[in-house]
Amino acid sequence: MESPFKADILKGKVALLTGGASGIGYEISLQLGQHGASIAVMGRRKHVIDSAVEVFQSQGIHAIGLEGDVRKRDDAARVLESTVKHFGRLDILVNAAAGNFLVPSEDLSPNGFRTVIDIDAVGTFTMCREALKYLKKGASGKDSSVGGTIINISATLHYTATWYQIHVSAAKAAVDSLTRSLALEWGTDYDIRVNGIAPGPIEDTAGFSKLLPQEILSKLKEQTLVSKVGQKWDIAMAALYLASNAGKYINGTTLVVDGGDWLSKPSH
Ligand code: HXC
Repeated sequence: MESPFKADILKGKVALLTGGASGIGYEISLQLGQHGASIAVMGRRKHVIDSAVEVFQSQGIHAIGLEGDVRKRDDAARVLESTVKHFGRLDILVNAAAGNFLVPSEDLSPNGFRTVIDIDAVGTFTMCREALKYLKKGASGKDSSVGGTIINISATLHYTATWYQIHVSAAKAAVDSLTRSLALEWGTDYDIRVNGIAPGPIEDTAGFSKLLPQEILSKLKEQTLVSKVGQKWDIAMAALYLASNAGKYINGTTLVVDGGDWLSKPSH
C-alpha cells in the first residue's frame, strides 16, 4: 500500500529497532527506511537479521544487522555503540522485541512469567537506558536543539483481561507505565519523546497466529469481525507519524492502532 507520507520525512535520521527483522518490527524498519532513515536491526537470530537486511539494502535503504538479546545489558550497550559507530548518530529507538506464548496461568512457571517480563519490560527499559546518551540533544552527530525519540511496541491485552496471556499482559502494562515515566523525565530534561503503539490483531504476525489460532479466526470471520484485523503497514504508519516531526508535540502516549477492536471484544 502506498504511504501517505513524503519519502524524505526521516532523511538523515538513524533508527535502531529491536525485533526489527521480523513481524511488525520488520515492517516498521522497512517503512522508516523507505522514508529516509538509516536502519540498524537487532535480533537474536543471525539468519533472520541477514535476510531482512538483504531485502532492505536491495531497496536502497542503508541498513545493518546486529545480533543481540535485549535481556543482556552488554548486548544492548554493544549494539547501540555499533549503531552509532556505523551511522554516526542515533535518533530513533523502536522497542519491538517481544516474547509470547499462550498458556493458562496455572500451567505457567514463575520462570516462564519472568522470561516474558525480561524480554518485553526489562528489555525495553535496558534498551532505553543504554540509548539515552546517544538520544540526548547534542549527542554524537546531533545538534543541540532536539533530542531523539523512542517508540515502545505494546498491546491492548491488559486493557481488559486476555485468556492465557497473564505474562504478556503484565509485561505490556509495565511497558506502558515506563513509556509515561520516561516521557516525563526525559521529555523534561532532554527533549526526548517517548511514546508507545498498541497494535490490535495484526495479520501475518507470530502474535496473531499464536493468539488467534485458525479455529478462532474462522469463528471471527463468521461474525464478520475480521474487518477489525489490521496489517503491519497500519502499525508502521503510526510509527512514522510518531517518529517524524508530525508527532513533535506527542509525548508519553500509547497510541492504540486496532480499528476499535478492544472496545468491542466478542465473547467466544
Ligand atoms: C509454557 C513456556 C512456553 C510455553 C516457554 N515457556 N514457552 N511455558 N508454555 N509455550 C517457559 C519455559 O518452560 C521456561 O520456564 C521459560 O518459559 C523460558 O523458556 P525458554 O524456552 O528457555 O526461553 P527462551 O528460549 O528464552 O524463549 C523465550 C520465548 C521466546 C518467550 C519462548 O522464544 C518466544 O516467545 N519467542 C517467540 C517470539 C514471539 O512470538 N514474538 C511475537 C510476540 S507477539 P521453566 O520454568 O520451564 O524454566 C506479542 C504481541 C502480543 O507479543 C499481542 C498480540 C495481539
